[in-house]
Order: sequence, then C-alpha cells, then structure tokens
Amino acid sequence: MRDPDGPAVAEAIAELREAALGCVACQLQADRTQVVFGCGNPATPMVLVGQSPGEQEDQSGEPFVGRAGQLLTECLARCTIQRRHVWITNIVKCRPWTRTERGKGRNRDPEEDEIQACRQWIEAELALIRPKVIVCIGKPSAELVLGRPIPISQVRGRWFVDHRFRPAWVMPVLHPAYIVRKQGQADYEPLCQQLADDLETARQKARQLLKEPVQPTAAELANAEPTAPDPLDEADQPSLFDA
Ligand code: URA
Repeated sequence: MRDPDGPAVAEAIAELREAALGCVACQLQADRTQVVFGCGNPATPMVLVGQSPGEQEDQSGEPFVGRAGQLLTECLARCTIQRRHVWITNIVKCRPWTRTERGKGRNRDPEEDEIQACRQWIEAELALIRPKVIVCIGKPSAELVLGRPIPISQVRGRWFVDHRFRPAWVMPVLHPAYIVRKQGQADYEPLCQQLADDLETARQKARQLLKEPVQPTAAELANAEPTAPDPLDEADQPSLFDA
C-alpha cells in the first residue's frame, strides 16, 4: 500500500531533523558527538520510541544500534519486521552520560529537565508521522507518551490510547537493555520471545488499523485490550503493513 503523503512526510521529517541537529535546549548538547534523530520509514503506521542514545548511538548517529539495539533488531526480525519498515526514535536525542574517575563515559538515564527540554522533538515527529501504533520501549518513554506513571512490568504488552499526542494505540514493552542484562539466566530467552510477541501484536494492530476505513470510537479505544498475534504470512510483501 503506497501512502500518497509519504514524500511530503519524508520532506517534513528531513527538515525537522535538520533543526534538531542544532538543538542546544539542554546541557546534553555540550558533551554529545551528535544528535541522534529518529530513523526508518516516516510513512509508517508504527513508531518505536525508546529512551535515549547510548555510546554507540552517539558515535553512529542512529538509534538502537548498541547491544540493546541489536537485541531489538533481532526481536523485530523474529516477527519479520525490518528496521526500514518502522520509525525508530527516542524521547531524548542526545546521549546522557557521566564521566567516570578513569575519564571514561558511562551511560545514564536522562534527567527530567532533559526529557522536558527534548520533548519538542518527539512531539513534532509524532505529529508529522501520525502513527496508528506507538510502541514505547521502556518506562520513561511510556510515561512521556501517556503522561502518567506506568508500572511497566505490569502493563507491558497491553494497549493504551494516547490522548495527548493524538488518538493512537500505545503499547509499552520491556526495554531490551533490561533483557540484555538477563543474558545467561533462565528467563533471558522467554523475555526475548515476549518482546518479539509484543512487537508482532503491535504490527498486527497497525495492519488492522490501516485496513479499517473508520477509526474506532472513543469507547472502543478506551476498552482496548491486548490482541493475540496472528500467524506470519507476509514473507514477500514490500511493506509489512500492506493489506
Ligand atoms: N539505544 C537507544 O537508541 N535508545 C535506548 O533507549 C537504548 C539504547
């Protein structure tokens, strides 16, 4: 399915990226190699929103390319999603880090003021892309998008409705950085599969919403429940979201 708005969205996103690359809205700009803007397909119905870049992302300029990113890419591949099919971004666009005593840098979580300074960019991205499904990777992302405290381990894989950015279906998932830390433990593989299953559920929802001529009512959205994944059947499709 070709999106007639695709080129216009791509152009607008490219302009937004140019603007974001020069951002000096918070202290993170002082120690960054570069701004890490979102990447992928801006005409996609499905956006993945993470927390903030780490060292590898800061070096490469692309979100989710370090260890956690590789696991995310692997889980996407398990449900036949390639990175170019979706938009992948973060709520904070510059790497938060602290200098250790040995002079090396250690990644840290973003501070609230850094998240607030940066939210203009994720808000603008979502306003341009207008995704039907937003997958929030980890708690800070889910809390920013949904605007309330989110007990991530209790609600991962469940659907919420985003009334703040626009009506869209929002699914919080566990952050792959959390899963990476379980490597070598018995729950590592089940957690990887759980993330892959959540992503597959999100993809199916995006496909279903693309096919629906009428948007669900507010009441339907408010009663959103998790959906079961369907069997894979898209091996040769140019877009995973084609009807
Ligand atoms: N890399 C990213 O780009 N975002 C995260 O949230 C974690 C790692």
